[in-house]
Amino acid sequence: MSLKKNLHSLSEKLESLTPAEGLAFLSDLFRGKVVFSTSLGQEDQVITQMIASNFLPINIFSLDTGRLFPETLDLIARTESKYNTKIKVLYPERDSVENLVHKQGINGFYDSVENRKSCCHVRKVEPLKRALLGNSVWVTGLRAEQSANRSEMNKIEWDESNQIIKFNPLLDWTYIQMMEYIEKKNIPYNPLHDKGFTSIGCAPCTRAILPGEDARAGRWWWEDSKKECGLHAK
Ligand code: ADX
Ligand code: SF4
Repeated sequence: MSLKKNLHSLSEKLESLTPAEGLAFLSDLFRGKVVFSTSLGQEDQVITQMIASNFLPINIFSLDTGRLFPETLDLIARTESKYNTKIKVLYPERDSVENLVHKQGINGFYDSVENRKSCCHVRKVEPLKRALLGNSVWVTGLRAEQSANRSEMNKIEWDESNQIIKFNPLLDWTYIQMMEYIEKKNIPYNPLHDKGFTSIGCAPCTRAILPGEDARAGRWWWEDSKKECGLHAK
């Protein structure tokens, strides 16, 4: 049976499971074919803790765009050491980055949405495709509360562009629920979160948010676009 056809029954089963139980269930069912993408954000740190402390057979990877905050890179090292685990780091193709920078300049993403999307494509979307290839389930840290766009997503869904089942275990967790879990389990997180950076991506494309602003307002703040980089195409 094709992966896509499994979705309905998987969705029913997962409804009765906690995020950690859901991760355990899927990693057992699709043994060796479940991968988790971490941006080292707070949601992702929660999922890493669940995977590592339950010794689940899920490979964890992160996409280093070459433009991340040093605090994010430090957190990779801190997390690996705390959980005695490995986070596979993927980099963009050298030729593609060189061509991109030659064409649009080192900070060309500020000049147009088109340039910005090309940069995200080269630095994130293409390496993601490589990371997902040959796998059956892609785990992410998406939460519905993060944006209007994300509130329409499902806990388990079909990702057409990567032909893979996508599992968002924390989709219906609230921010408060997540923070309580982080505190209870003493989970390490990016110090930038305490400086107003709710959602953290690349350094030149992320700013702290102001009181009352939307959680993702600091991402590509100069744009009126949907504020998605193309990883989560919808
Ligand atoms: S983004 O699309 O705007 O960049 P966001 O930062 O909210 O996404 O993160 C949502 C989820 O996308 C994360 O929980 C993670 O699963 C995945 N993700 C985002 N950025 C990366 C990255 N650099 N490396 C790996 N996964 C990422
Ligand atoms: Fe490029 Fe900014 Fe996208 Fe990072 S977030 S890949 S720097 S456009």
